[in-house]
Amino acid sequence: MTALLFSDREFRQIADLMYEAVGLSYNDSKKSLIQSRLSPRIQKLGMGSFAEYIACLNDESEAAEFQMAVDLLTTNETYFFREPKHYELLERELAGYRNKGPITIWSAAASFGDEAYSTAMLLADMQTSGRIGPDWSILATDISHRVLLSAKEAVYPQDRLRAVSPERLRRYCLRGEGAAEGQSKVQDKLCSRVKFGQLNLCKAFDGLGPFDVIFLRNVLIYFDPPTKSEVVDRVLSALKPGGLFFLGTAEGRVPCKTPLTVVQPGAYRKAV
Ligand SMILES: C[S@@+](CC[C@H](N)C(=O)[O-])C[C@H]1O[C@@H](n2cnc3c(N)ncnc32)[C@H](O)[C@@H]1O
Repeated sequence: MTALLFSDREFRQIADLMYEAVGLSYNDSKKSLIQSRLSPRIQKLGMGSFAEYIACLNDESEAAEFQMAVDLLTTNETYFFREPKHYELLERELAGYRNKGPITIWSAAASFGDEAYSTAMLLADMQTSGRIGPDWSILATDISHRVLLSAKEAVYPQDRLRAVSPERLRRYCLRGEGAAEGQSKVQDKLCSRVKFGQLNLCKAFDGLGPFDVIFLRNVLIYFDPPTKSEVVDRVLSALKPGGLFFLGTAEGRVPCKTPLTVVQPGAYRKAV
């Protein structure tokens, strides 16, 4: 089937809708990406043009289709123990907690859950070795409904688990056989430590946290500079004073109002 094309005006309409709703910022270089991601969906719905689809996205009674467009347009690249130095820092940090009270962690753009389950593996190991107590929890949120459903199922192609040590794979994952060859499932005992929920970082949220540690990695790259700063300050309002804050190392420091000190590349501490 030939892909549908859009006019410059239709591209801007879609880009504006996405910017308003979820903060995603698309310049002209992203035209073909948007076209190729949405065109098959539009054809599957039996629509003949982007204009028809845009009318649907503007229709408030079509919220499910709007969510589908968000799912298609977000980039969800992730894998277990991405940026291992962040997990090494987290381990040193938590080992230094003197009282064994609750530890709360938020993975704020969790995608398929790789980051949250990597963290859960680390904390479960630390609990087993008595370096932290049993009272810890991880919240993992994302805007995309599709990735959250998959994250709850916790089934991964083995390639995504390539940075997980063989011992951890044995302790926390079940290797698929037969039709599930090449995939692994995170065990339920670990899954039960992670709660998933949908959350839009670009809208105000109440009642979250305060957390000891927040991961906000590899999502700000999709936002424009003012949105980046707003999101960072909003997320930091849910971090305890002295808490650790992780951004993707390649994202650099984002200007924000909340005072932070640099701990290592991509890792910051909120002022006490
Ligand atoms: C590239 S993934 C990052 C995954 C993980 N943090 C990592 O570093 O491997 C970016 C995620 O941000 C999510 N995202 C994009 N815009 C968002 C928003 N406004 N609110 C919440 N999540 C959003 C996307 O759905 C996607 O799953």
